[in-house]
Amino acid sequence: MCRLGSYRPGPLWLWKALLVFVAIAFAGQLMGLIFNKSVQLATHSLFSAPESQGPSLGSCRPHSHVMFLKTHKTASSTVLNMLYRFGEERSLHFALPMGYQLGYPLPFIAHRVKGYQGPRVVEFHIMGNHMRFHKPEVEKVMPEDTFYFSIVRDPVALAESSFAYYKEVAPAFRKAKSLGDFADNPRSYYDPRLRNNHYARNLLWFDFGMDHNANFSVGLAHRGEAMVHKAFKLILVSEYFDQSMVLLRHALCWPLDSVVSFSLNARQQKPPGSTGGGASNSWMDKAAAAAVAAAAGVGVRGGRPLIRAPPDLSLTPAQREKLREWNSLDWHLYQAFNRSFWEEVRRFGQERMDQEVALLRARRDTLAHVCLRNGGKPVEAQRIRDKAIRPFQSGVVKILGYELQPGLDNITTEACLRLIRPEIQYKDVLDAKQFPRSQSIKVQLGQQLRGPPIAVGGSYVGARPSRTRERLPPGGEGGAPRGGRTMEEVERDWSARLNQTSLLREGKGRLR
Ligand SMILES: *[C@@H]1O[C@H](CO)[C@@H](O)[C@H](O)[C@H]1NC(C)=O
Ligand SMILES: *[C@@H]1O[C@H](CO)[C@@H](O)[C@H](O)[C@H]1NC(C)=O
Ligand SMILES: *[C@@H]1O[C@H](CO)[C@@H](O)[C@H](O)[C@H]1NC(C)=O
Ligand SMILES: *[C@@H]1O[C@H](CO)[C@@H](O)[C@H](O)[C@H]1NC(C)=O
Repeated sequence: MCRLGSYRPGPLWLWKALLVFVAIAFAGQLMGLIFNKSVQLATHSLFSAPESQGPSLGSCRPHSHVMFLKTHKTASSTVLNMLYRFGEERSLHFALPMGYQLGYPLPFIAHRVKGYQGPRVVEFHIMGNHMRFHKPEVEKVMPEDTFYFSIVRDPVALAESSFAYYKEVAPAFRKAKSLGDFADNPRSYYDPRLRNNHYARNLLWFDFGMDHNANFSVGLAHRGEAMVHKAFKLILVSEYFDQSMVLLRHALCWPLDSVVSFSLNARQQKPPGSTGGGASNSWMDKAAAAAVAAAAGVGVRGGRPLIRAPPDLSLTPAQREKLREWNSLDWHLYQAFNRSFWEEVRRFGQERMDQEVALLRARRDTLAHVCLRNGGKPVEAQRIRDKAIRPFQSGVVKILGYELQPGLDNITTEACLRLIRPEIQYKDVLDAKQFPRSQSIKVQLGQQLRGPPIAVGGSYVGARPSRTRERLPPGGEGGAPRGGRTMEEVERDWSARLNQTSLLREGKGRLR
């Protein structure tokens, strides 16, 4: 008591000083907070601005269990880039293949997934590499609440792309002088028993895991359609890529930036020695370019003769009709899912769709201007110093890529890099993150794909050595016959991206 009573506060000046000190500290902290925030805003501004979120999605919860059936020649690589980005940004677990595809063209089995340890033992979030769909096996890997989606494309456009691309891989195409030639009498070129001929007939039907050689009947077509309907929540349409992205974003409850993408892998037209294709275009159809590359023997170890002209893809209206008939199962599937796609758009609201498509395109332009050198004008691969973003060069045709805008801060650089990181490199990056120790197995890509090696430079190369090595898939799976397999796989991946803008502008059925 006595002691308490004798307790005397210090002099008043001390209290005042303390108060002032506290006030200053508080203000300082507040200012620091604001300051920090403004610094953060400055570095995050591009990717954290309200525009990155897009129009409100309501009160949904983002899907993080997603399975994408990556069909061939349908812009599916662009979709895969989105899944890669979304998952990487959130450290989700990918169901990755051992190589670059999940056992394609064999029907998928769960053991193809790297790190698979039995039915739903490990939680996988995202699965999206090429496979021939087989639901029971996919279900062993992916959780029950997984969102399944895929993408389809007009079978005539798909045949053009496939012919150009797999000309040297599918025996049915190899023998045909031109696509028109093939269309006129497909049966004379097509032997269902030969490996890789699935690229030449009902390729969508095949990728969905069904018998692509079955004779068409209305009943069969409806059964196939019903199977796809049952297995997949959403089927996108390549010809309406941006609308597809809007529907996808709402179905998945993802921010706008997650579905914004650049058109990768444009090809320069008129490669040296080629006869050139469609006159006035300055960029060549990617598929034709790939075929030229393949024909030129790039990576085809068997030493096939060098053919320098791109395959003739021109078709008369009658030949287009014949191709629809030849691919009648796919044609039915495409029409059915084009119809259901537009029903979905109507439910969404056409006006709302138009607005969101406009926002998506505006956002793409914004990101292109911030992220890409020259506002996104594609450049020749040799001029891209950073190997992590350089598309593979392939002999005759110059495959174009993008360069990052120099001088960006690190966070923006990282975000921009994800948008343009090619599929093969991206898979390697994710693989390295998920399986830190298994990197050494990878084979160096080296001279096989390119001519003279291109000097490594660029500011990011040194900083991220693990991401900058170009690698050849180790093989062991893939669509092509033994010798050309790896190249075919790599080539496909490089070229499977479409120019969404041109797809949209030129409408159905035409890519070139
Ligand atoms: C499809 O029809 C053709 C001719 O009508 C026939 O030769 C062929 O065996 C049929 N194929 C199948 C898988 O039923
Ligand atoms: C796809 O649907 C759109 C909108 O209904 C239609 O204009 C277009 O002709 C359809 N395409 C095919 C190939 O059916
Ligand atoms: C940005 O990244 C570079 C290379 O990775 C590094 O040297 C630099 O310190 C980083 N700067 C900041 C501000 O983090
Ligand atoms: C995409 O297509 C549009 C329209 O055809 C064209 O103007 C543009 O240059 C193309 N972009 C690339 C990267 O090929």
